[in-house]
Amino acid sequence: MNAPPLNPALFHLDEDHLWVMHCSEGPVPRAGMRAARAFMQKELQPWDVRWEEDFQGIPAALRAEAAALLGGRAEDISLSPTTSSGLVAVAQGFPWEVGDEVLAPLGEFPSNAWPWLALRSRGVAFREVSLWEGHRAGVDAWVGDPPRAEAEPEARLIEAIGHGTRILALSWVRFQDGYRLDLNRLGQACRERDVHLVVDGIQGVGTVPVNLEGLSAFATGGHKGLLAPQGMGFLWTEAAFRQALAPSGTWLAVEGATDFSRPSTDFQREWLPDGRALEPGGPNLLQASTLLESLRLINEAGVPAIAGHVARLQTFLLEALAGSIWHTETVRLQALLQSGRLGSILAFHHGGRGPDFLNRCLKVGYRQGVFASVREGYLRVAFHGFHTEGDVERVAAWLRSFA
Ligand SMILES: Cc1ncc(COP(=O)(O)O)c(C=O)c1O
Repeated sequence: MNAPPLNPALFHLDEDHLWVMHCSEGPVPRAGMRAARAFMQKELQPWDVRWEEDFQGIPAALRAEAAALLGGRAEDISLSPTTSSGLVAVAQGFPWEVGDEVLAPLGEFPSNAWPWLALRSRGVAFREVSLWEGHRAGVDAWVGDPPRAEAEPEARLIEAIGHGTRILALSWVRFQDGYRLDLNRLGQACRERDVHLVVDGIQGVGTVPVNLEGLSAFATGGHKGLLAPQGMGFLWTEAAFRQALAPSGTWLAVEGATDFSRPSTDFQREWLPDGRALEPGGPNLLQASTLLESLRLINEAGVPAIAGHVARLQTFLLEALAGSIWHTETVRLQALLQSGRLGSILAFHHGGRGPDFLNRCLKVGYRQGVFASVREGYLRVAFHGFHTEGDVERVAAWLRSFA
């Protein structure tokens, strides 16, 4: 197999910690730690913090790197601490009318539910759509059936679009079952119906190439596939959609905000037309400098190369598990993988064995130095560009040990 597109030596991972759970929290490269340290050194001596290089330069470089990652324009990027905060900016800024509706797949991660549910008092409904036969969520999450390659979730979502639907809000790659939706098919259908497609992209970005065609907004935090600490991410908005949103109303969202030759108390100003109009205030330079390093590494390696590598490792693992107690799941997941329905999460359904079984699997894994995660009936194994074939062999040995 080819060398991993992200050199494992760039990270602080060791033999005792095989981390296959960037779908919870990604490891940060050493370069991010160096950048954070260098920035904090400047903060110790604030006379070293440069206006153009740091205060303006770091956010500008981060917007440019995020745009390169998404294949978009830097002026459409708003730096935003989390996926939630990006979606909240859209939810709070959208020109709602009483009776409007947000449509979403059943069982979204709460970051893509609460921003819309918070609109109830403004007369906006939130309606969930089941994506396949036997799909369950909420208190029934563990008794549901997993997605199969024959499922047609996009058709169900498009069919469910109603008279009052203004926004279709969904996760590109789902957090529990790892299923990847076809954004461009949905985007096209939304455009044809005058509906906006708003995407929670955190479980796909960094490991799956993005195509923004047909989307109105794409929000992500930086702490999973983007390999940065919690607390810094970004929101991309399509220009015309953004113009319809109310701005954040922060002091940096207006023209000439940092031109101190003009009184800051002069409030006769226009809102900025670009993504900065949706930013939450003064930039978090410490966080921005670490995410910037991670994005540089990812862009340099290239997301298509990372995605290809991850798919090869996934195939290798599924083949290695043939004939084990996971056999039925390997067949289901192979079919999903081959039909382009997976991101970086291989989510093994419990198949009626229940939470105790999956938690026991996890604990045995921890003792062997293999760190995976469980969510809503699935054992999640997530590979990234820094994993190796040897890592897959260790995961396979761990999973094959259950009879
Ligand atoms: C699909 C999805 N969206 C969002 C998040 C995180 O949201 P935030 O960036 O707001 O913390 C997660 C995981 O924590 C997730 O799996």
